[in-house]
Amino acid sequence: MRRIYTGKTKDVCALDDGNYLLKFKDDVTGENGVFDPGANTVGLTIEGAGRAGLRLTKHFLEILEEKGIPTHYIDANVEEATMTVKPAEVFGNGLEVICRYRAVGSFLRRYGMYDKEGQPLDAFVEFPLKDDSRQDPPITEDALVVLGIMSSEEYREVKNLARKIGAIIKEELAKKGIELYDIKFEFGRVGEDRKIALIDEISGGNMRAYKDGKYIEPLMLEKLILDA
Ligand SMILES: Nc1ncnc2c1ncn2[C@@H]1O[C@H](COP(=O)(O)OP(=O)(O)OP(=O)(O)O)[C@@H](O)[C@H]1O
Ligand SMILES: [Mg+2]
Repeated sequence: MRRIYTGKTKDVCALDDGNYLLKFKDDVTGENGVFDPGANTVGLTIEGAGRAGLRLTKHFLEILEEKGIPTHYIDANVEEATMTVKPAEVFGNGLEVICRYRAVGSFLRRYGMYDKEGQPLDAFVEFPLKDDSRQDPPITEDALVVLGIMSSEEYREVKNLARKIGAIIKEELAKKGIELYDIKFEFGRVGEDRKIALIDEISGGNMRAYKDGKYIEPLMLEKLILDA
């Protein structure tokens, strides 16, 4: 086993059989000790956060697999906070895909002249580049194509998948009386045929969820969804 990447919240190792092992850490993103899923720095360490994030990720990825959505998931070991996945080729040096149902976070900061906090956004999809030094700038389809990051066909497919997956997660949360405001995904090309699949994680740190109009912290969200 060989570590190939040290991330902010996970480490990536290459296994002898060619698959990857994602190791979920207890570090979470935020600033000045306050959790913020949109932040680009590790803000704090919470005992058990890695395992909680993995439990929720396993839960959602298994639901998605059952529904026929292509993902990188193979299996998970919650005790060890590790998940075995198929290796993917990411778009460019990494691309995020956000599906938004209500205006919060960076969308609100950017377009504050025109929108109000919590305003409905009708499954709006945007593509921020993973570029911490430039605060993850959102990029258009034309720019993705002209820069050779992805093709138009891939853009359409990723956008459709993000809406489809977002709707499934939104419905799962709604079963617990929780409303999904936004969610962040990553996609990649998997296998010899470079088929587009959902990669990375779907944990509390990747979404903003509200109950009775109040924001729910990731660890609480994981409890509300997984503990009956
Ligand atoms: N199946 C996969 N194949 C290849 N890379 C993957 C796969 N799944 C996840 N990754 C990558 O593994 C890394 C996990 O690290 P981590 O979640 O800590 O994020 P990061 O890149 O440091 O930054 P960010 O917090 O912005 O996500 C990410 O770069 C992600 O793109
Ligand atoms: Mg990440």
